[in-house]
Amino acid sequence: MYPKLHHPPKPKNPSLPPGSTTVKHQSKRSLPLRYHIAVVLILFMFLIPLLFFLATTIFVTIFPSPPCFNSLNRSSFINPSNELLSEEKLITVGFCRNLIDGAANVSTLGGNGGEENGSHVGGICCDRTQNQTDICYMKGDIRTGSGDKPLSIFLYNVYSREHLADEKIRPYTKKSEESIMSTIDELTLVPISKNDAMVDNSRKKCDVRHEVPAVVLSAGGYTGNVYNDFNDGLIPLYLTTERFKGEVVLLVLDHQSRWMSRYENVIKNISKYEIIKLGIDRRVYCFPEMIVGLKFHGELSIDPQLMPNGIHNFQALLYESFGTTKTTTAVDKGSTELRSSLHEVPRRQKPKLTMLIRKESRVILNLGKVTRLCKKIGFQVKIITPEPDIPLSDIHNALSTSDVMVAVHGTAMTHFMFVKPGSVLVQIVPLGLNWAADEYYGQPARKLGLEYVEYQIERSESSLSKKYGPQDSVISNPKKINRKGWDKTKNIYLGNQNITLDVHRFDYW
Ligand SMILES: *[C@@H]1O[C@H](CO)[C@@H](O)[C@H](O)[C@H]1NC(C)=O
Ligand SMILES: *[C@@H]1O[C@H](CO)[C@@H](O)[C@H](O)[C@H]1NC(C)=O
Ligand SMILES: *[C@@H]1O[C@H](CO)[C@@H](O)[C@H](O)[C@H]1NC(C)=O
Ligand SMILES: *[C@@H]1O[C@H](CO)[C@@H](O)[C@H](O)[C@H]1NC(C)=O
Ligand SMILES: *[C@@H]1O[C@H](CO)[C@@H](O)[C@H](O)[C@H]1NC(C)=O
Ligand SMILES: *[C@@H]1O[C@H](CO)[C@@H](O)[C@H](O)[C@H]1NC(C)=O
Repeated sequence: MYPKLHHPPKPKNPSLPPGSTTVKHQSKRSLPLRYHIAVVLILFMFLIPLLFFLATTIFVTIFPSPPCFNSLNRSSFINPSNELLSEEKLITVGFCRNLIDGAANVSTLGGNGGEENGSHVGGICCDRTQNQTDICYMKGDIRTGSGDKPLSIFLYNVYSREHLADEKIRPYTKKSEESIMSTIDELTLVPISKNDAMVDNSRKKCDVRHEVPAVVLSAGGYTGNVYNDFNDGLIPLYLTTERFKGEVVLLVLDHQSRWMSRYENVIKNISKYEIIKLGIDRRVYCFPEMIVGLKFHGELSIDPQLMPNGIHNFQALLYESFGTTKTTTAVDKGSTELRSSLHEVPRRQKPKLTMLIRKESRVILNLGKVTRLCKKIGFQVKIITPEPDIPLSDIHNALSTSDVMVAVHGTAMTHFMFVKPGSVLVQIVPLGLNWAADEYYGQPARKLGLEYVEYQIERSESSLSKKYGPQDSVISNPKKINRKGWDKTKNIYLGNQNITLDVHRFDYW
């Protein structure tokens, strides 16, 4: 069951839209809305460069010579001709990112272009500049420790240790949340200079040697909640490993068998190799290259600027992993073919509407009436309670063939990732949850290309209006409660609210 929503606590909520109890008529027909959006877009096109210009000017005025914040002191690489790179050539964060992305490799660092010999090249760098994730990159003679704490990974052929220090990292994408990060196992990356390694008798012998790169991630933290399974795990994993096309070994910390079995098909596509349970498996594994930590582009998102077509390729991967009608031809090459193959579903009389419902909180109390209404409108209706024992392929099959998905705000909304672009997503937003609804699902759904519609319930449709009087700020001013912090919001609006939809009002299609 997914009773809890693990949103990061948002102390302030300035963007909560006013008039939280009005329906937004965002159907395809509402042309004026499009004009509004156009006007806003044009304004933004002028405003953003202006603001950027102002900010830059102010920054340059305050800091005449900006601190060299992107040079990493403790990182170095040895180029193929075995020279230690000069101080200026020490890895910058930008270059480290390129190494992580595969946009650069160590041999592009300079040198005489001599033949690269893995055993002569060793280096490590970390990008710690991002909000939600730290990522380290290592190249060289990399060997895992044998499972003793603190968990370590050794890099044996660094030219000189002078400029290097151990790097500590927790490979999970919730860096901003200290409390959950403290539950993630910490890895120590230990560079050992070539000379030390030769005399080091403790140097581990490889039990298993891989010639392909490795990626290290944690399946701990919030893993187990479908939102976090995708947001913190699968999407970041896809972002990090896509370029390897299956030729990558995954090392998983905080391994959970439930996670493995539920997402087995997706993981098999990401890596052709057996998963290594770091900290449990005591064998020494050796690699030529390793990325520790995962990339992150934002809530349930793949930034099209950083990975063009990424989100559609990810959907194609889900389709391949969960689809029962596996099409071996059409789905392979990206979004256009995916779309056409998805549209090849058998002709049917009525449009299909799939509703994901909840059982404990944010329950639709008059589900029967609502279902009858949807049927009366002309939909073929399917109701799913997305509990953990329901195979993801069932949910995927229902949603990937649906024209409309309807769900109350909650972690199960994550399944919109299965809905094909161009379909309609209706999020029923209980009182007090407007901001979270938009931030966590509305925006990502629009980015995916869904026709996103928000149904914000009226006070009278919320069970809270029976518990609190109309004057109570829980009812009259949810924003005020929101401002008191996420815990309050969670307790009142997420955990203790049910919904009785006003079917006349809901009938707006
Ligand atoms: C790098 O660190 C070393 C010691 O760790 C220090 O002596 C050196 O000045 C640092 N260099 C830069 C450019 O900060
Ligand atoms: C390193 O990068 C250069 C230039 O991008 C490329 O030509 C070369 O094949 C790469 N080498 C490896 C081992 O990937
Ligand atoms: C590469 O390294 C191996 C040791 O691992 C060594 O035997 C070999 O001679 C090296 N090759 C070159 C071209 O330096
Ligand atoms: C994360 O970083 C972006 C810039 O990359 C910034 O705009 C945003 O406010 C940051 N978010 C948080 C929660 O700090
Ligand atoms: C993973 O899925 C994608 C998209 O369906 C496909 O193109 C690719 O060949 C698959 N890769 C592996 C390693 O199975
Ligand atoms: C909401 O409905 C469920 C199922 O009917 C019930 O168990 C729960 O107690 C209700 N919660 C509130 C706050 O009314």
